[in-house]
Amino acid sequence: MKNNEWQEFFDIYAKEYETEVFTKNTLNEVDFIIRELKLNPPLKILDAGCGIGRHSIELAKRGFQVTGIDISLSMLKEAERNAGKAGVSIELIRTDARTFKKELEYDAAICLCEGAFSLHGSSDDPLMSDLVILKNIHSSLKPKAFFLLNALNAMRHIRHYGNADVESGAFNPLTLSERSRMKYKLPSGEIDITGYERGYVLTELNLLMNIAGFNVLNVWGGTAGSWNKQMIDLDEIELMVLAEKADINEKRKIFFPD
Ligand SMILES: C[S@@+](CC[C@H](N)C(=O)[O-])C[C@H]1O[C@@H](n2cnc3c(N)ncnc32)[C@H](O)[C@@H]1O
Repeated sequence: MKNNEWQEFFDIYAKEYETEVFTKNTLNEVDFIIRELKLNPPLKILDAGCGIGRHSIELAKRGFQVTGIDISLSMLKEAERNAGKAGVSIELIRTDARTFKKELEYDAAICLCEGAFSLHGSSDDPLMSDLVILKNIHSSLKPKAFFLLNALNAMRHIRHYGNADVESGAFNPLTLSERSRMKYKLPSGEIDITGYERGYVLTELNLLMNIAGFNVLNVWGGTAGSWNKQMIDLDEIELMVLAEKADINEKRKIFFPD
């Protein structure tokens, strides 16, 4: 079963993933997650788009019960191998974050470094597919649970792309998606896909979170490798949103920075 072009990409890229510079700060990132989500073991955590399991495994090492979901079997195989090496057990499920939900199962959720969110395929609905992910994560969380999300920063796209890119289809101003052809040879195979990456502005993220049933508690710049509750840099690759599952009858709050 092929979910979209990203599954194809990560199935081939899995063996190379750990060589990426942005994966080298996992310990600090997990310190950050535990601190900002106020987590104490043995809470149950959902890692949506867990990839090779770098956050899941470190969280499991610290006593949490983690479920990692991912569309790519090769990424999950790497995660399983890494968990074995680390001597921890995590639940790994091959599934699409757009269909997976387990009602009221988890105490917290993370969706980091474009883990599912922001990546879409040529036949996916670019406006709805990420909202479905947020709704599924929301259903899977217990009331008042925290959720940490990374999304691609569309302000960077807007500053980077020009009208010629709109004309060529490299950037779609309606969906704030960039389209890129990725073609290279790797020891594990040849990649030749066209991938779509959806950027977000914070006003939209704030509203999407609300529609899905979350209250946004804070927003920061949040590119992998440099999480520090820092102010957003307009040219930064990723944004970070900390949110809380709102009570059913609670009026949703829109986040306004101080
Ligand atoms: C850039 S990696 C991030 C992995 C991990 N969160 C990290 O921080 O290293 C993105 C991962 O999301 C997975 N992914 C993409 N779309 C997905 C979807 N719709 N559902 C589940 N996983 C998805 C990919 O297969 C890939 O493993």
